[in-house]
Amino acid sequence: MAQLWGGRFTKETDRLVYQFNASISFDRRFVTQDIEGSMAHVRMLGKQGILTQEEAAQITAELKKILAETQDGTLEISEEYEDIHSFVEAVLIQRIGDTGKKLHTGRSRNDQVALDMRMYTREQVQQTDALLKELLEAVLAVMKAHTQTIMPGFTHLQKAQPVTLAHHMGAYFEMFKRDRLRMRDIYERMNYCPLGSGALAGTTYPLDRADTAQALGFYGPMLNSMDGVSDRDYLIEFLSALCTVMMHLSRFSEEIIIWNSNEYQFVEIDDAYSTGSSIMPQKKNPDIAELVRGKTGRVYGALLSLLTAMKGLPLAYNKDMQEDKELTFDAIDTAKGCLALFRGMLSTIRFRKERMRESAALGFTNATDAADYLVNHGVPFRDAHGIVGKIVLYCIEKNIAIDEMSLDEFKSISPVFEEDIYEAISMEACVNKRLTIGAPGKEAMEQVIALEEAYLAQSAFPQAGQREQ
Ligand code: ARG
Repeated sequence: MAQLWGGRFTKETDRLVYQFNASISFDRRFVTQDIEGSMAHVRMLGKQGILTQEEAAQITAELKKILAETQDGTLEISEEYEDIHSFVEAVLIQRIGDTGKKLHTGRSRNDQVALDMRMYTREQVQQTDALLKELLEAVLAVMKAHTQTIMPGFTHLQKAQPVTLAHHMGAYFEMFKRDRLRMRDIYERMNYCPLGSGALAGTTYPLDRADTAQALGFYGPMLNSMDGVSDRDYLIEFLSALCTVMMHLSRFSEEIIIWNSNEYQFVEIDDAYSTGSSIMPQKKNPDIAELVRGKTGRVYGALLSLLTAMKGLPLAYNKDMQEDKELTFDAIDTAKGCLALFRGMLSTIRFRKERMRESAALGFTNATDAADYLVNHGVPFRDAHGIVGKIVLYCIEKNIAIDEMSLDEFKSISPVFEEDIYEAISMEACVNKRLTIGAPGKEAMEQVIALEEAYLAQSAFPQAGQREQ
């Protein structure tokens, strides 16, 4: 058992208590951020004359080595220490003796852990954004290839009106685009530095908080030290945004599962992204999509756990806050993994255009357009709706599509119909007449594709510390 705070204690901590309290098994994940934070702190202590220049230089040089060694694996992180902060400090002291003991001047583990977690999360927000961008590129590729791939659009999972695959995919493009905006927004709000908050009340040393904030790529220091050590809003915001990402992925997965079913056969998932059954040789299962759908609940759980952990906490730091880590790490790993796998599945999936078109044609998806035809020939819409309702009933009885009726059959239901009805209710016409922006018509869709392409070309995430202009 190796801990930093034995001075006022007269008894050894019970082993179980020690283990219950320890966080090194998971906070070792931000060893890099911990050391980078310490280096910025020590450099500033030197500049401010709180440590001598020599002391600061000696500590910095050794921290650099420790960082390199933890990264190349020559220095193993020993879980004998309570947390990653204690580990790094102990190694430093073992190596350079008393000077090492000065590292923690003007700092508490409360502001240290707040800093480490914020820096780690900031990077994860950027990585999530990059994965979302890659997914958007895959979605856009499908959109560009399928502006004329007709499929049924659904409401209530009932065939409603014909759309195109490009149009259907375009809805997901918009969702993931909003997810990226959320990442950017969170980043802008979270990128302020807690270092220098001390345990809760700042410190008596003349720290230059603006200096460390800038050195670590933050926009500036957090303006209240109690908030600095106890704010976890940014994690809640990030988890909430990840929940929304997962909700989008899960809806998309659900559609792929339906489209991949024996009944629909709209898609064929690539062999690399499906699995077989141990007993049923004919099976090819959409496991990746199912797992993405399943893991969504797990990410929701993380958000709810953290909200609950925070709801009763008085200011400032409380140990409950240590619970922010494992669940956040798990949610981040899960969401990032799902984004990458989903993109792989989407870019290798085969869309069965003929099946989609046939399904749209046989599903009365042109019924609205048949009613619109009547309206254009002077029939009031409500009457037109009734007439087409009769046509649908007639077709169901005869088991045919609307455009398989003869003109005589049309005329027997309403004399208004003429030969041009066939052109008016062809699948192509139904789709391509819908030309308001946001609709599936070819020209409208191409306009949107050009806008989405321009969006992808300009939307680089700001580097740490670079504020958006
Ligand atoms: N492992 C702790 C955490 O994650 C670090 C801060 C410890 N501070 C304290 N006062 N015990 O929150």
